Amino acid sequence: MKQIRDFRVKAYDRLNEDNYIIELGCDEELPAIKAGNFAEIQVPQTADVFLRRPFSILDADHKNRSLKFYVKAIGKGTRKLGELAEGTKVNLIFPLGNSFNTDHIRHALIAGGGSGIAPFILLAKELKEKKIKTIFLLGARTREDVFLADEFAKYGEVLITTEDGSLGDKGLITQHSIFSKHDFPYDKIFTCGPDPMMKAVARIAAKKGVNCEASLENMMACGFGACLCCVTETLDGNKCVCTAGPVFDTKYLKWQI
Ligand SMILES: Cc1cc2nc3c(=O)[nH]c(=O)nc-3n(C[C@H](O)[C@H](O)[C@H](O)COP(=O)(O)OP(=O)(O)OC[C@H]3O[C@@H](n4cnc5c(N)ncnc54)[C@H](O)[C@@H]3O)c2cc1C
Ligand code: FES
Repeated sequence: MKQIRDFRVKAYDRLNEDNYIIELGCDEELPAIKAGNFAEIQVPQTADVFLRRPFSILDADHKNRSLKFYVKAIGKGTRKLGELAEGTKVNLIFPLGNSFNTDHIRHALIAGGGSGIAPFILLAKELKEKKIKTIFLLGARTREDVFLADEFAKYGEVLITTEDGSLGDKGLITQHSIFSKHDFPYDKIFTCGPDPMMKAVARIAAKKGVNCEASLENMMACGFGACLCCVTETLDGNKCVCTAGPVFDTKYLKWQI
């Protein structure tokens, strides 16, 4: 059930100059949160970031009533969110959006690029609970941009590609040898990251006849289907990513054709 609630900044985990994890705590119990859900965060103490900003829920600790978000600072909102004093009030609308479908899977491949790794910690937990074997393929520009690899390693094997070859296979995520091997044991691919990456992953999935879900990161404003600024074209017409998504079966997306 969707909530509008004040949280307070509990802690930051600084990953590097532009990337951090923010932990927000609240007094009341958290509602059920599913892998793929996101929150619309009101960035406080700034007059020029008027609209809320959407972020995937990285992790939810129901016992301690806290949520974690992985943030890549790219503009005013994401920078300000990384500069708040402990205890600062931050208002959230959450949990929003749909979730990943983990039914009837034996072997999952998760392909995350850049800040697209964020929805996958909760998914990793769910897949592990269901005893579904999972491989994580993380793509980044350089080794300094690879985050949370140790965290993902708790849930399965982690493979890495970097564009400059400084860690793992050299090249784009879709150039990893996993995709060119004759043996491709995965029956579901989950992906999140830049659009061209997700489209390329979806094309490979289609070629191999494997089901694929992508978590889209279209720009958003309201977050609940009112402004229509986040639409994506599907076989069933235009859909708001904030309400019909953010997770879509890639067969259903027009960009897949
Ligand atoms: C469902 C969803 C989940 C997301 N989850 C995460 C997450 O877990 N971690 C994370 O770091 N980011 C995530 N994002 C992206 C994040 O919302 C944006 O980076 C953030 O809103 C930018 O705010 P800003 O004020 O810092 O940037 P702005 O000052 O608003 O913009 C800075 C620049 O970034 C571009 N930009 C803004 N938003 C996006 C976007 N969504 N996609 C591509 N370019 C954009 C702008 O055009 C501009 O060039 C998610 C987005 C969506 C829709
Ligand atoms: S963000 Fe307003 S309709 Fe999706």
